[in-house]
Amino acid sequence: MPDVDSTKESKEYCLDIPARNTPFFLKGSNSLDWGMQNRLARVFNPASGKTVMLAIDHGYFQGPTSGLERIDVRIVPLLPFADALMLTRGILRTTIPASFGKGIVIRASGGPSILKELSNEQIAVDPEDAVRLNVAAMAVQVFIGGEFETQSVHNMTRLVDLGNRYGIPVLGVTAVGKDMTRDARYFRLACRICAELGAHFVKTYYIEEGFETVTASCPVPIVMAGGKKLPEIEALEMAYKAIQEGAAGVDMGRNIFQSDAPAAMIQAVRKVVHERFKPKEAFEFYQSLKSDKK
Ligand code: R5P
Repeated sequence: MPDVDSTKESKEYCLDIPARNTPFFLKGSNSLDWGMQNRLARVFNPASGKTVMLAIDHGYFQGPTSGLERIDVRIVPLLPFADALMLTRGILRTTIPASFGKGIVIRASGGPSILKELSNEQIAVDPEDAVRLNVAAMAVQVFIGGEFETQSVHNMTRLVDLGNRYGIPVLGVTAVGKDMTRDARYFRLACRICAELGAHFVKTYYIEEGFETVTASCPVPIVMAGGKKLPEIEALEMAYKAIQEGAAGVDMGRNIFQSDAPAAMIQAVRKVVHERFKPKEAFEFYQSLKSDKK
């Protein structure tokens, strides 16, 4: 039992120092509860306010994607360079060391494979299991304009309600169907709907014209989706422009794990996102790491 200290003469109340009231570092996240903010701080680096998420969840609808055939061999060595990892609970439990201390963004929607209508998803993780896995966020695909638009939006709102109950943020992922135009008007619509209906952050694609209007009109942080594999310099340029135009980070998959040198590529992306390297500088950094085989 501790000693009762009421007889101690002096106490350090620091009466001349006002209590701190520091706003939370992420856009639109100031009124969230402590647990929610703490989880977001496991996804976004509080020092830079940005994130480099590594997306490896592709198998949930397309099986063993090129570069992800052996996650234990090809992806686990990249973990020290990721701020957060986006993946399914199956890969998390089977393949990712539990000593991984950064953010886990769990794929929480699914259902159809590439052989079927992709927008016909349902919630694929019970938030209680997400709590058990100590995840930092739950990701759900939202198909605005898709055949099962309403169902996918309701997947998201249901997860937001459960996430709010347990203190787990929800990432709304804007999915673009084959026939939809990828322009600023579409992404403004899709991202804003996700945020209005409660997503705590949103993942969307970069577009050359008007991306800054997409980030400006979305009241929560936006992370840029990687998309199909590009030459490394082009992927670094895309990440650079997205950050300059208001993205709070990137969530890249194929442009990292399908690179000739994935470890060098993710480190180069970090330079762009956290240290504002220009694309050319970051590409030179990539080449030097690649030639050193780091
Ligand atoms: C995209 O919406 C899915 O979540 C993917 O499985 C993945 O995150 C895409 O990553 P990337 O397009 O960068 O390969």
